[in-house]
Amino acid sequence: MQVITTVADFRRARAACDGLGFVPTMGYLHQGHLSLIRQARAECSTVAVSIFVNPTQFGPREDFERYPRDMDRDLALLEAEAVELVFAPSREEMYPEGFGTYVVQPAADEVLEGAARPGHFRGVATVVCKLLNIVQPTRAYFGQKDAQQTVVVRQMVRDLNIPTEIVVLPTVREHDGLAMSSRNTYLTPEERRAAPAIYRGLQAAEQRYLAGERNAEALRQAVIAVLDAEPLLRPEYVSVADPITLRELERVGERGALVSLAARLGSVRLIDNVMLGAQPS
Ligand code: PAJ
Repeated sequence: MQVITTVADFRRARAACDGLGFVPTMGYLHQGHLSLIRQARAECSTVAVSIFVNPTQFGPREDFERYPRDMDRDLALLEAEAVELVFAPSREEMYPEGFGTYVVQPAADEVLEGAARPGHFRGVATVVCKLLNIVQPTRAYFGQKDAQQTVVVRQMVRDLNIPTEIVVLPTVREHDGLAMSSRNTYLTPEERRAAPAIYRGLQAAEQRYLAGERNAEALRQAVIAVLDAEPLLRPEYVSVADPITLRELERVGERGALVSLAARLGSVRLIDNVMLGAQPS
C-alpha cells in the first residue's frame, strides 16, 4: 500500500494502474466506509482511497476543528482491505495560496442539507471534482447515507463530463439501526441510547408507506411522532421529497420518495434517510 500526500506523486503512481476504483473519505473509517471499499475491491483491479477532512465543506460554526482524526488506525484498516493507493494530502496541497475556483450548484443550496448548511455543497462538489481529476478513477463509490451528496455528485459528473461512473451503496447501520457515522463518536452514552429513534422514525414512515399511505404530510408526521417521543432529540427538518429533484412532495408518486432528516442530540448533528418505492436511476 502506497500512502501519497502530493498530487504530483499520486499522478505518477496512478499512471501505472488501470481499472481504478476510488472511495473518497474524510477518514476516521467505520464499516460504512469499508463497505464502499470492499465493493470497489470486488469490482476494480486497483483501489484508491482518499483521506482528507475538507475545510471548505464545513461552515464557520461547524465541527471542522474537532472532526475526529486517526490516521494510524485508518491506514491499518486500509492495509487490511488490501487497498493499493491512499491519497492523504495536506490542506495546503489541496488549497494552495491563490486557490479561487469553486463548483457550485445553486439548486442544491435551496433544499435539505444545502439549505441547512450554506456553502456545504460548494465545498463538497469542489473537493470531489478536484479528487476525481487527481485520481481519474473508472468508478467512484459513495454512500446513500449522504443522499443529497450523491445527487450533487451525479449531477456534477453529468454536467462537467467527468468520465467516472458513480456507484451508490446502501447505508450501513449499527445493530440498533443507528446509521454509522464518524460523528457518532461525539455522542455521550445517554445520547447514544437515544439515537436509534432516528431510524425508528424513518421506519415508521416506511411502514405507513407500505400500508398504502401516499400523503407526504402523513408520512412526515409518522417520523415526527417517533422523534418527539425521545426528549433528547431535536429534529431540525424532516423531509419527504422527490428522489431526483429533492423538492418537497404533497403526494408520493411513481418515483417514490426520499424521506430524510437532520436532528440534534446535544451538540451533535446527525442525518439519516430511507428511500420509499422506486429507486432513482
Ligand atoms: P465521509 O463522511 O468520510 O464519507 C465518505 C463516504 O462514506 C461517503 O460517500 C459517505 O456517504 C459514505 N458513508 C458514510 N457513512 C456511511 C454509512 N453508514 N453507510 C454507507 N456509506 C457511508 O462524505 C464525505 O466523507 C465527504 O463529503 C467527501 C465525499 C469525502 C468529500 O469531502
